[in-house]
Amino acid sequence: MTELAELESQLVGAVEAAHDEATLDTVRVSALGKKGAISERMKTLGAMSPDERKQAGQALNALKDKVAAAIASRSASLKEAGLEARLATEFVDVTLPVRPEMQGSVHPVSQVWEEITQIFGDMGFSVAEGPHIETDWYNFGALNIPDDHPARQEHDTFYFNPKEDGSRMVLRTHTSPVQIRTMQESETPIRIIAPGRTYRCDSDQTHTPMFHQVEGLVLDDKTHLGHLKWCLEEFCKAFFEVDAVKMRFRASHFPFTEPSMEVDINCSWEKGQVKVGVGDSWLEILGSGMVHPNVIRAGGLDPEKVQGFAFGMGIDRLAMLKYGIPDLRAFFEADLRWLRHYGFRSLNVPTLAGGLS
Ligand code: DAH
Repeated sequence: MTELAELESQLVGAVEAAHDEATLDTVRVSALGKKGAISERMKTLGAMSPDERKQAGQALNALKDKVAAAIASRSASLKEAGLEARLATEFVDVTLPVRPEMQGSVHPVSQVWEEITQIFGDMGFSVAEGPHIETDWYNFGALNIPDDHPARQEHDTFYFNPKEDGSRMVLRTHTSPVQIRTMQESETPIRIIAPGRTYRCDSDQTHTPMFHQVEGLVLDDKTHLGHLKWCLEEFCKAFFEVDAVKMRFRASHFPFTEPSMEVDINCSWEKGQVKVGVGDSWLEILGSGMVHPNVIRAGGLDPEKVQGFAFGMGIDRLAMLKYGIPDLRAFFEADLRWLRHYGFRSLNVPTLAGGLS
């Protein structure tokens, strides 16, 4: 074997033996680099006779091309192998079932919030929001609850420290201030629900200092009590997923509505479990009425031209009733065992078409 043939088999052997790009590059430098084996031999050409040079030059160039080609092809196959290896380790089988250790679930309050939004959304309501920290006026005054009104005591309000002008901000005690903000911001016809957090200084089995309400408001030039009754009946049937529900509209009093009604639905109690739509016990679920002219005026609209109804209900209470959850305080204890029991699968989004719960 000639010396060049020996060099060739040695270099090509080293190229084939390189198992990563870094080693391959070392081989490339040792062969083709400035001081590499082939380059060093090129330098000897100058001292040769023209004939010798021609022969040796051709042979060296051929060797150089062969080694360069071997390096290029080895580099390509190393790259391909690297990609294969990465794909193999990063492989995700999307057809596998959800891992058993996945623990996230949707809280019953979020679930019920979503269900309510779906039902009213289907009836053409949109969702409105307001701040949790309210002025006294939005939370009380504008809702026809003047300073000396007894309803203020009933609300167990969390007050902030007084400002310099003596006024005090409050944590909103209900979602009703969103009624006023909506009237100020939009034109009739208005058809909104306002789900959100509310706060009262109260805590027992059915009360927590933070809880959730949903407010409803419909205003135009002709909405009447009949619409209110129909709307709430449709809501109850859809929400409790029953074909029929008996409803009792009991005369009541709220400063922001006239007339005012509390609404009960029929239910049965068997072994401590409540069932809605059957039986002849009654369960109070919400407050409602025709919006008081003073409230419409506070919202910047003309009660001679605008009329409609409002309602308010507790989201947590609805969740307790629908899903048989006995104690409200557990809602907010962040106990994973409780969430695993009462929570909902995160990928099951409630829709009217696909079933709510
Ligand atoms: N804001 C009332 C509360 O928190 C609930 C309520 C009753 C809201 C009647 C209304 C309504 O809009 O018409 O107790």
